[in-house]
Amino acid sequence: MQSDTQKIKTFIEEELEIFGGPLYMPENEDEISTERPFVSSEITDLNEFREKIMHCQNCPLGSSRTNFVFGTGNPDADLMFVGEAPGESEDLEGIPFVGRAGKLLDDILKAIDLKREDVYIANVLKCRPPNNRDPNKEEIEQCEPYLLKQIELIKPKLLVALGRISATTLLRSKDSLTAMRGRIFDYHGTDMLVTYHPAALLRNPNWKRPAWDDFKKIRELYRQKKGMSS
Ligand code: URA
Repeated sequence: MQSDTQKIKTFIEEELEIFGGPLYMPENEDEISTERPFVSSEITDLNEFREKIMHCQNCPLGSSRTNFVFGTGNPDADLMFVGEAPGESEDLEGIPFVGRAGKLLDDILKAIDLKREDVYIANVLKCRPPNNRDPNKEEIEQCEPYLLKQIELIKPKLLVALGRISATTLLRSKDSLTAMRGRIFDYHGTDMLVTYHPAALLRNPNWKRPAWDDFKKIRELYRQKKGMSS
């Protein structure tokens, strides 16, 4: 059993390690969760990290999931996509974006001359919320440090948030998707663009054209960052 002082010390150390300074201290004591996942700076390998966290039980989704959905793709990718949370197919297979939305994402990648193996794909949440509901605050608080550690290990040059939920969650924003598209954000030191979620494109094909504009921009920025000619 940790003493209260030890819990506060652990909280401060983790906060600094995960987010860097300045330190954010919640005003409300209830906001201090002593169950935050500890993400050690000593882990330097993505597989090792996966092994460490794949049995996570830090939020109730741990007991309802079939599989923990860590992420997939090239561990040295320069381009990383961040979706919202696993859906039914992903929960069953343990791999992100393998359902209908995933097939569309594969097609879009192909259209910008990339394959799934070239990029890294992960979600804000690693476990499926029941009935695919939106992630809640507690789940995000528990899971986002895992995403940050993945980004730290992969070191992508460009992040792409897929969909409004992923973008507003990561950016702590209430903006609409329209307001966020076309802008370059800084997500903990990494450039980030926002575009439509592939599932939204399946529901509303009218968005395919603006999404294609976004993906051309993603291709252009990615090539610039890799020093490739367009
Ligand atoms: N939607 C997401 O946001 N992520 C997945 O992995 C699948 C569907």
